[in-house]
This record gives sequence, structure tokens and C-alpha cells, in this order.
Amino acid sequence: MQISPTPGSAVTTEADAVVVGVYENDEGAAAGFDAAAQLIDAASGGALTKTFQAGGIKAEVGEVAPLWALPSVAAPLVLVVGLGDKSEMNAGVAGQACGAAARWLAGAERSCVAFFVGEDWSPEQTEKAVSAVLAGCVGADLYRREKKRHPFKTLLWSGDDEGRQRGAILGEAVNLTRCLVNEPPNKIYPISFVERAEKMAAGCGLSVEVWDEKRLAEEKCGCILGVSRGSSQPPRLLILEHKGGGKDAPTLALVGKGVTFDSGGLSLKPSESMKTMKCDMAGAATVVGAMQAIARLKLPVNVIGLAGLAENMLGADAYKLGDVLTARNGVTVEIHNTDAEGRLVLADTLATAVDRGADKIIDLATLTGACVVALGLDVAGLMTNNEAWCDDVSAAAKRCGEACWPLPMFPEFGKQIRGEVADIKNVGEGRWGGAMTAAKFLEEFVDETPWVHIDIAGPSFLEKPKPWLDGGGSGAFVQTLVEVARAWGT
Ligand code: BES
Ligand code: MN
Ligand code: ZN
Repeated sequence: MQISPTPGSAVTTEADAVVVGVYENDEGAAAGFDAAAQLIDAASGGALTKTFQAGGIKAEVGEVAPLWALPSVAAPLVLVVGLGDKSEMNAGVAGQACGAAARWLAGAERSCVAFFVGEDWSPEQTEKAVSAVLAGCVGADLYRREKKRHPFKTLLWSGDDEGRQRGAILGEAVNLTRCLVNEPPNKIYPISFVERAEKMAAGCGLSVEVWDEKRLAEEKCGCILGVSRGSSQPPRLLILEHKGGGKDAPTLALVGKGVTFDSGGLSLKPSESMKTMKCDMAGAATVVGAMQAIARLKLPVNVIGLAGLAENMLGADAYKLGDVLTARNGVTVEIHNTDAEGRLVLADTLATAVDRGADKIIDLATLTGACVVALGLDVAGLMTNNEAWCDDVSAAAKRCGEACWPLPMFPEFGKQIRGEVADIKNVGEGRWGGAMTAAKFLEEFVDETPWVHIDIAGPSFLEKPKPWLDGGGSGAFVQTLVEVARAWGT
């Protein structure tokens, strides 16, 4: 998609559609319209005001009202999008509103669309809005011959320049992550995931290292190897590196769970829960998307992105209940449930991040259904060994309009995974507190390194569409990671 500044006003710009905004307003109609909407209203003899008064325009966030063939307006279609209460405007709301407008417009083929909303928004709000427009235009219908969404050829944007440019890079990163998640599991497996990442890295100057099964054995990654034993697809560990900072500058590590399909293994999942388990590599896909944006934004920081990639299946050689695996850092693990595979894949990947000299770590994983029970589908869980680092990550997420909430790391949760035969077990005693016992497991592999674990089992994959985004992979937390990297440099 070509993304440029608007050449003229909302009235004069010749596009297939122009988008303007309306805020909620207690005092009556016209004052709720943003500047561009007011221009169109004046030019068209009050068409917007009249439509509003007749109930045809609503100001709730993401509501859209199409108005065709307004007199004296160059574009044949004006889309009025609801922006909510002006005092509550933030990056998240800006994204929802503009994403909803884009998703509606991308429902048919349109070559050029001009957005005149948010001309007074901050660069951060603009960035989120542009990124949401790009995401709203792209669906999950990768293999449908007749597409449901049609990305515009040209997007014209009247708001902040810098926000527009950064938003374009972020939107493309979010869409890369979404695409990787939406690809079916017969297309994306460890080897093909790595190929996609290599292609991306070559395009933006990231260096790449890939450990195959032989190297994984040499590197003592016994947990990744254990998980993948039941699959005909060999595992991989992917390391992407962005050297934007000085030689002695600290390193941020982004670590992702990349289980390209989670059948549960011998602790087999029921069909209903297995159906969407292609999404179990969303953590790894989030890291890949974020690394692309970090490289393209040329952030002056050192960041490494690591993805532990495996398929959890139940072939003849599958790992079994009672098996003991030895992780890279020497910790031994009793397997009590082969469906708790993500923490095993992350164990070796986190230990590798530590060995690579990470100064701080964030991991992302579709780790537990328990986190979804605790926080719902739209909120990610944050767990940490370092409150200050967690506050930094949480503040970055807030600036990006991405919802996450801390969960506790009391020592009691750690007691539940103490082992009998080996050091630890891969599941707790009962099912209660599952998000936290999983995090306590991960904590065994980060030494003293400040670390935040983000459980994205809920928000990374939309089972139902949102008004601003089609169902499937959401790209959640790509922007937060980029924002953390940006703040890291300052
Ligand atoms: N990949 C799943 C978690 C998951 C659930 C992700 C729903 C996305 C949506 C993970 O590997 C898993 O199976 N976790 C188990 C852990 C249990 C065996 C301790 C779970 O949540 O049931
Ligand atoms: Mn599982
Ligand atoms: Zn899993």
C-alpha cells in the first residue's frame, strides 16, 4: 500500500472515499464533528448535521456512517467514523476507530482512500491509527479465492507526518505477525517459519542464526528436542539480531513461544480446543514482527529476538508422561503433561537468551488457558521477577493501547512444581493458578536477569472478529515490544 500525505482538503481531495470523524458531544450536533467533517458539512449545505440529527450518524467509537454523493464534495463517498468522548481519546481508541473505518472500506475494492480524522492527534495516536488502518484492510482469508478484504492501493493521511511514517512500518509488522499466525499448520512448521523469518531479515538488515536439531543437541536444548520428538517436523531455534546500539550498550532480548501446532501430544487435546492451535506460535510471530519494525525504524538499541520452534505431536517417538528432560541450563524436568509443552520450548530459549548476554528479557507466549480464565480474551497476563522492569513494559503497553495486567508470583506457586524424580515438574498440582505456576516454571531459566513474561493466550487470536479487525491472528503486542525498544534507547 502506498501511503502519502493528503494533497488537498477533505472537500477537494479526489479519492474513492474520504474519512472524517465525529466526537460524542452533549451539547448537540455540529460541534461534535472534527475539523474535516465541519468542512464537508459546510460545503454540502449541512448534510452531516442533518444526517446526525436524523440519527444516521453515531459518535460511539468505531461506528461508521457512509454518506454518498454529497454536493460539492469531490469524493463520491464520505465515511463518518465515531471517535467517542474527546477527553477519553488515546492510542487504543484511535486505533479502534480508524481500524473500523478501514475494515468497512476494505469490504469492497477501493483504489484510494483519504483519512482526515485525527489531524490534531499526537504522533503516538497517529501511529496507532495508521497501523490499525493497515491491519483493518487485511483479512485472515489467505486461501479464499474470493477475498473478503481488499487493501487500498493508496492511503492518503492528513495527520502527523512522523506518526504516519512510523505507523506504516508498525502496521506492516503487525500484518506480518498476523499472517504468520493465520497461515495453516500444514504451511507453517519450524522449517518454513524460519524461512519466512530469513526472508524478512534479509529485507531489513537483521542478522539471522538458526539452530537445527543437530545444533540443538550440541547446545543441550533437551526440552525443545523432547517436545518435538513426536513430530515428523524437526525443531528449530531462531535468533534474530539488531545491532543498532554501541558495542557496549545493553541488550534487550525478545523471546517467543513458537509451537507451530499444539495437539497436546499424548495428553491429547479434545478437537474443540485443538481447532485453533495453529495460533500457538503467536509469541514467536510477535517477536518476528517486532524485530522487523525495530530494524526498519533503525532504533539505536541492541535487540535480539529468539523463537523456540517445535510441533507438539504424538508420533511413535513422542515424549511421554514420566519422561525426564534436561534443559540447556541443567535443570531437569519431569513430564506430567505433554500439553504443557510451551514452557519446555521456552525453557531452552530463555536460557539461550541469558547465555547470549541479555540484560533484560521479555517473553511472549500463548502459554495457558488459565490466563484466559483469569483475565478474559482481550487482556494479556504479565508476570515478572522484577517489578521495575514490569512497570516499564506495562507503561509501554499502555502508551500503545494494548491491554495487559499483572498476575502474582508468590513463592507458593513455585512450590507446586517442585519435582520428586527431577528438579521440577512441567505442571502444578491442580489446575488452579495455572498461569502463575507456568510463569514460575519459566523463572527457573532466566537466572537473575530482569524478565517479564506476557501470556497472550487470549488476545493473540480472535475467535470472532472485532469491528476494527478480522478474526484470527491479531498482532497484539508487536507495538508494545517496539515501544519498549524505543524507550530502551532513551
Ligand atoms: N497452547 C496451550 C495454551 C492455550 C490455550 C493457548 C488456549 C491459546 C488458547 C498450552 O500449550 C496448553 O495446552 N496449556 C495447558 C496447560 C496445562 C496442561 C497445565 C492449558 O492451558 O490447559
Ligand atoms: Mn499445550
Ligand atoms: Zn501450547
